[in-house]
Amino acid sequence: MSVNRGQWGSKFGFIMAAAGSAVGLGNIWRFPYVTGQNGGGAFVFVYILCVLLIGLPLIYNEVALGRFTGKNTIGAFRDTGANKFWLATGAVLALCVSFFVLSYYSVIAGWTIGYIISEFTNFIKDFQTFQATPLYVIPLFALFMVITIVIVTGGIAGGIEKASKILMPLLFILVFLVMLRSLTLPGAMAGVKYYLTPDFSKITGKVILSALGQAFFSLSVGWGILITYGSYLPKNQSIVSSGLWVGFMDTMVALLAGLMIFPAVFAFGKDPAQGTALVFQVLPDVFNSLPTGGNIVGALFFLLLCVAALTSSISMIEVPASYLIDEKKWRRKHAAWTIGILAFIVGIPSALSGGASELFTNMQIPFFGGTTKTGFLDIMDAIFGELFIVIVAFMTSLYAGWVIDTRKLAEEIATGAPVFSKKIAGITPAQLWVLFIKYVCPVVIGLVLLSTIGII
Ligand code: PHE
Repeated sequence: MSVNRGQWGSKFGFIMAAAGSAVGLGNIWRFPYVTGQNGGGAFVFVYILCVLLIGLPLIYNEVALGRFTGKNTIGAFRDTGANKFWLATGAVLALCVSFFVLSYYSVIAGWTIGYIISEFTNFIKDFQTFQATPLYVIPLFALFMVITIVIVTGGIAGGIEKASKILMPLLFILVFLVMLRSLTLPGAMAGVKYYLTPDFSKITGKVILSALGQAFFSLSVGWGILITYGSYLPKNQSIVSSGLWVGFMDTMVALLAGLMIFPAVFAFGKDPAQGTALVFQVLPDVFNSLPTGGNIVGALFFLLLCVAALTSSISMIEVPASYLIDEKKWRRKHAAWTIGILAFIVGIPSALSGGASELFTNMQIPFFGGTTKTGFLDIMDAIFGELFIVIVAFMTSLYAGWVIDTRKLAEEIATGAPVFSKKIAGITPAQLWVLFIKYVCPVVIGLVLLSTIGII
């Protein structure tokens, strides 16, 4: 049945690919600026709780759903008896999220290629002008998309796994190098203190909500990605330990990213709460003002950002592609190129929304909670990266906890991981997981959702 679908060659390969999907712009670009906007240490503390209590049970759920059915996201819902409603709100929406996020995520990833080159040629004078020049952003966007497509056409063990096994360790080495440089700057300790000393009085409802949203974005939960990747996981491999590894590595990279950025921001007297420009506007200045080797550190940093984005964008193509391959019998090559090219076309307005096109730069929609989103890219991110991702995670946990036989999924998690059904302090991890997926996850995510749309 699954003969020509492909499988991961090893558990290490699966962990690297899944962690590669999780670790991305979300960890290195988004996590530090969201931390900066939410007061530093206290946010970090809440974030870790969100990963452990909500993120991890959902990772297990998605991987189990994928391996249990051996199918892509849509197939996994259909094979477990989902009706049209669950298909639409769980699976089809997840596919849309992956596709539309890919369209603008690759635009940002394209910028990172520009910044790597600019460390040696200085062709970027400032972020605004760079972003507003279509001749820069469009070809860089296209280049990034083509690299992604070529890796995906290589298939499961040959393409995605091979690339991730090389790229992920490289990423860790680069994080450490840049972090060491950042920590040895004079005045760096103020940043470390800001980042690592939680001030518990700063924990508010909004901090908790931002932390949960960031956890979903970062862990790649609620996108159908872990369902798809789980479907390529052999039965004798442990979902329990692989999931733990993925969550651990993702969180480590985010935490280390904070340790690269905040010491530098403080050492140079910049504002940690300035938002999305933190990486692209502040750090190049920081690198340039280093006495020696600034361009090397800078190029390494943007290379690392690009690598992280690449292992994530691969997984975003894989979700819709695996649907076309499984259900519509497309060839892998066809599927990857079609989706990549379509996402490129859909992404053009995002690429032009940094000043190149007045229409796309200034367009506005009212968003929840009385806010307005300006610019095509930010609008796409608000709709797909913030709202829909939470809806999909909510629907998936309801579906797994209440619509299908949750014990079957618990058994799937225990397959290859006997410890999951061993009693510890009177309860098995499996029973605990069922409690989380039935009650804790839907209630907490439901509250986040209600508050996002402004009802509470
Ligand atoms: N987790 C990725 C990040 O942190 C984003 C992503 C989500 C990538 C879902 C693929 C799928 O950047």
